[in-house]
Amino acid sequence: MPDTLTITDNRTGKQYEVPVADGAIRATDLRQLKVTAEDAGLATYDPAFMNTASCRSRITYIDGDQGILEYRGYPIEQLAERSTYLETAYLIIFGELPTETQLQEWTTQITLHTMLHENIKKLMEAFQYDAHPMGVLISTIAAFSTFYPDAKKIFDEQSRKKQIHRLIAKVPTIAAYAFRHSIGRPYNYPDNDLSFTGNFLNMLFRMTELKYKVNPALERALDVLFILHADHEQNCSTSAMRGIGSSQVDPYSAMAGAAAALYGPLHGGANEAVLRMLNEIGSMQNIPGFIKRVKGGEGRLMGFGHRVYKSYDPRAKIIKQTADEVFAVTGRNPLLDIALELERIALQDEYFVSRRLYPNVDFYSGLIYQAMGFPVEMFPVLFAIPRTAGWIAQWEEMLLDPEQKIARPKQVYIGQTRRDYVARDRRG
Ligand code: CMC
Repeated sequence: MPDTLTITDNRTGKQYEVPVADGAIRATDLRQLKVTAEDAGLATYDPAFMNTASCRSRITYIDGDQGILEYRGYPIEQLAERSTYLETAYLIIFGELPTETQLQEWTTQITLHTMLHENIKKLMEAFQYDAHPMGVLISTIAAFSTFYPDAKKIFDEQSRKKQIHRLIAKVPTIAAYAFRHSIGRPYNYPDNDLSFTGNFLNMLFRMTELKYKVNPALERALDVLFILHADHEQNCSTSAMRGIGSSQVDPYSAMAGAAAALYGPLHGGANEAVLRMLNEIGSMQNIPGFIKRVKGGEGRLMGFGHRVYKSYDPRAKIIKQTADEVFAVTGRNPLLDIALELERIALQDEYFVSRRLYPNVDFYSGLIYQAMGFPVEMFPVLFAIPRTAGWIAQWEEMLLDPEQKIARPKQVYIGQTRRDYVARDRRG
């Protein structure tokens, strides 16, 4: 017997059978619930999409109650331990782990696309010396659409593949240039002998030495952080990527919008906000007062809480281990003690326990980034680099999904009813 939901409309006394598939009903099936033949039918009202699926996806699975995260079915813990970011990006975008040959070909393509057009470099040089690197990243990604007009051919598979290579390869270069710009140092060109993260570290931190020596522990830690941030299903920025992409604009324009969504402090800007918060708290004795203010509604405990996870974010668990490995090289971040104490108190406090607020991915990532020498402004940029894989995969899935159309939510209009224009001298 097919799964259905029986709805009785008390307004008309009529009964309706609505099919249930994969735990969801189709909102458009409710349109048949009408009082009169002319009315538009019943709609759903769901601000912030608290209970509305906007797509069917095969990319990332999350069970927020149990703290499970899987990319294409592979648990995040296994990928963080055994994969690399480039391999994971391939998995997320193409659906399967690559064979040895596929991985080599993919790595070669990415390596060959890391250079930026010199005019892009000039464009980036035009920013103020203190421009936030996330603003620079967003603008430069948008500018890419003017450099690669072939990207408009979104239904051409070969063209899409080329933009995928360009985006995965060039976003770290933009990020590194944005950083070098902010510290007034010359930009470092990519070094094709290095790994994806090794090359990124080289572009960021090489000074006058001829060959940059990558610290393998930091290279691996960054790779793990990139794996953890690669995708997270229909979050704010991914929804922006899909929403903008649904107008059939090129992927660079769509991704500039996605990156802008990521910039906000409730999303990818949270890791920057965590560090600012820890600095403001300053010392252990200020923690109880801070928690009290949060509970009183004065601000939030940044890096805590999640729309989906109502248990410990599995990424935060892995990050805590990575933090130890990084601090063994860089020395312990003094703010770690404040973070650990905040976590200890919050996990016992009725306010946080009853709301099921646990540390999320951003609670500890900033501490690692800071220990590695990144200024806080770079944190959201470090989130955007790996999330490029997720955005592209989700964009392509949306484009090829025959059920998708231009995104266009309904509204419930609660404004004035029709009235006549009043001449200026007769108002109020
Ligand atoms: N500190 C204090 N109270 C909180 C927090 C927090 N971090 N997060 C949620 N609450 C409270 C909130 O005030 C509300 O309480 P009440 O029911 O009394 O009004 C309740 O918990 C539910 O919160 P909500 O705002 O309705 O939950 P949401 O699902 O809309 O928000 C969130 C999710 C992540 C935006 C929110 O938890 C938050 O603002 N966290 C801090 C920012 C942060 O760390 N963001 C990073 C998210 S993970 C990285 C990413 O994927 O972007």
